[in-house]
Amino acid sequence: MPEKSLIEKAKRVLIGNFQKKGFTIPSKNLYPFQWKWDSGFIAIGFAHFDIEKAKKEIYSLLDAQWENGFIPHIVFHTKNDSYFPGAEFHKSSLNSKSPKHIDTSGITQPPVLGFVLEKLYDIADNKKEILKFIKSQINKVYKNHQYFYSKRDINNEGLVYIYHNWESGTDNSPVWDNIWKTMNPPRYKFERKDTTHVDSSQRPTNREYDHYIDIIELAKKFNYDDNKIAKHSPFLVQDPLFNSILIRSNECLIRLYKILGGNEEKIKYLKSKNEKSLININKKLYNSSMGAYLHFDLRNGKKIPLICSSSFSPLFCGAPDLEMAQKLKSTLMEKFGKHDYYLCSSFDPEGKQHDQKKYWRGPVWINLNWILYHGLRRYQFEETAKRVKNDSLELVDTLGFYEYFNPSKKTSKESNKGYGGENFSWTAALTIDFLSRK
Ligand code: DGY
Repeated sequence: MPEKSLIEKAKRVLIGNFQKKGFTIPSKNLYPFQWKWDSGFIAIGFAHFDIEKAKKEIYSLLDAQWENGFIPHIVFHTKNDSYFPGAEFHKSSLNSKSPKHIDTSGITQPPVLGFVLEKLYDIADNKKEILKFIKSQINKVYKNHQYFYSKRDINNEGLVYIYHNWESGTDNSPVWDNIWKTMNPPRYKFERKDTTHVDSSQRPTNREYDHYIDIIELAKKFNYDDNKIAKHSPFLVQDPLFNSILIRSNECLIRLYKILGGNEEKIKYLKSKNEKSLININKKLYNSSMGAYLHFDLRNGKKIPLICSSSFSPLFCGAPDLEMAQKLKSTLMEKFGKHDYYLCSSFDPEGKQHDQKKYWRGPVWINLNWILYHGLRRYQFEETAKRVKNDSLELVDTLGFYEYFNPSKKTSKESNKGYGGENFSWTAALTIDFLSRK
């Protein structure tokens, strides 16, 4: 399909998912509210053709920020019973710092807003106008980074923890499987809604949901108090993707503050935190014999020796030196980049738990590809970056704006379909960005 008509189709997806209240749903029925990292990617897509909607997206998300700087992973702007677990389950009002005017979840998602704000600056034609907007929002994002470093970096290593798999964004990755074995949640009674919209073979199992629900029940028991969660959650992980995004966002906030002028103290704070983060992401999460960054299970005190698409995300924040970066690229190409596979599978195609169909256990995701593309370009790995971009566009062009895709070229062609939600916002938004010159 010519690039222009693919862009037009993508725009229609975004416009179709935009809601009157000034935010965009990821996908009809399956995800009917505002999700944090989705919104960041969505804003990048809108910025190419409707900067006002891009601003609204960020504004409506930050409007739900908690007093302590926390930004929730879901904002329940409207009522809708097509999703579980909804506002009544998450009960953000249990925490006195949650907003009074709106319900949210009490878990977060990767801190994309720093790099998103910079991306909006790069894309916008009217720099003066966009700077005005950035000036009005940037301190909220800064406060969010302060929250992470003060509440979620319990060993003062510059590496923040996540306490729930949904915070990682890579929801049911095999990376968590051994953590589930340390838990024995009850069989909760709940009504799954996701499997009424999407074939259950593409979604997590009910037993996996028991674990997800159990951690939230524990957090609720502590009224979402960070110190208590850090002490008691069976799930406490330092995730390379989450931390790479934080580092990249630190870097972008520093650059934006410099453009805005003043803000010396904030720049100093971000620089000192970032230095430590960069040192320790390499020291603690990099594994040279595997040629990959790994997750660290803080609760059980050990690295999780599994490779997934998040393992390459430190390229995005410039953490690896050139030799490490070369090694990452070799691991990527040897394991994930075989000619009959699209880049980049969400989990090691040679791994036992790899599943081509199931949510984050193997399929290709366009947002991870976008992160990988920019990471590879940062190290001038132009050929590999081009392959990631072309694979992404081929999938979208031939199959549609799905949430995720089968990594096997043969299976994708035979089934002629993608997986999960259709007309998925970030797939459309990042297609626009991939095809745009800026
Ligand atoms: C879901 O429901 O699968 C979401 O990704 C978690 O927020």
